[in-house]
Amino acid sequence: VLESLKGVSRGRLHLAVASTVNYFAPRLLAIFQQRYPGIGLQLDVTNREQLVRMLYDNTVDLVLMGVPPTDMEVESEAFMANPLVVIAPPDHPLVGERAIGLARLAEEVFVMREPGSGTRQTMERFFGERGLAIRHGMQMTRNEAVKQAVRSGLGLSVVSMHTIELELETRRLVTLDVEGFPDQRQWYLVYRRGKRLSPAANAFREFVLTEAAVIAPPIFLGAGAV
Ligand code: PGA
Repeated sequence: VLESLKGVSRGRLHLAVASTVNYFAPRLLAIFQQRYPGIGLQLDVTNREQLVRMLYDNTVDLVLMGVPPTDMEVESEAFMANPLVVIAPPDHPLVGERAIGLARLAEEVFVMREPGSGTRQTMERFFGERGLAIRHGMQMTRNEAVKQAVRSGLGLSVVSMHTIELELETRRLVTLDVEGFPDQRQWYLVYRRGKRLSPAANAFREFVLTEAAVIAPPIFLGAGAV
């Protein structure tokens, strides 16, 4: 016990998270760091494609992401709900409509993330599985840019609820009440299968699995909520 405590009080921990996870990751890290002040933390924030590469190259201890890799031997453990919602500017004609059909939604233009994004993959899969092709508008590599573009009327988009808390509060963006949304996804803690986790990594894994959903739950106000 003493030995493992010593490990936890000292170790180093290299985490990598999806850009969308970064909206709540710092809150988790602040609490974790208070509890284990001796652990040196390094955090990388990037898109899904890069996270998969880091797992493949074994250059990271733990990854937090929305879409775990399927073509690699990994352990992935769901730790919190990740509802995906359709966002629009507050003055969009569809705001306030109930149960908007997907066919109607597909008439709109969508602001897209880059091809390596997990959010984009999920969005394309959602519509693809329902036989719908969405019209791609502008493409942006950052979630923040997507939100600004939607706000400016460049199109609609699909994003994780965790990324728009502030915009909903200040009503800079609204969610649309669309059939099939919120798309109920999960956030996952992922690491290479067979990897021996350090005491620091184990402590963080335990912390995320038991406490993340209490510390940073998604706040869903309801589609079109004012
Ligand atoms: P991303 O993050 O869209 O920035 O890749 C979300 C995810 O990994 O699902």
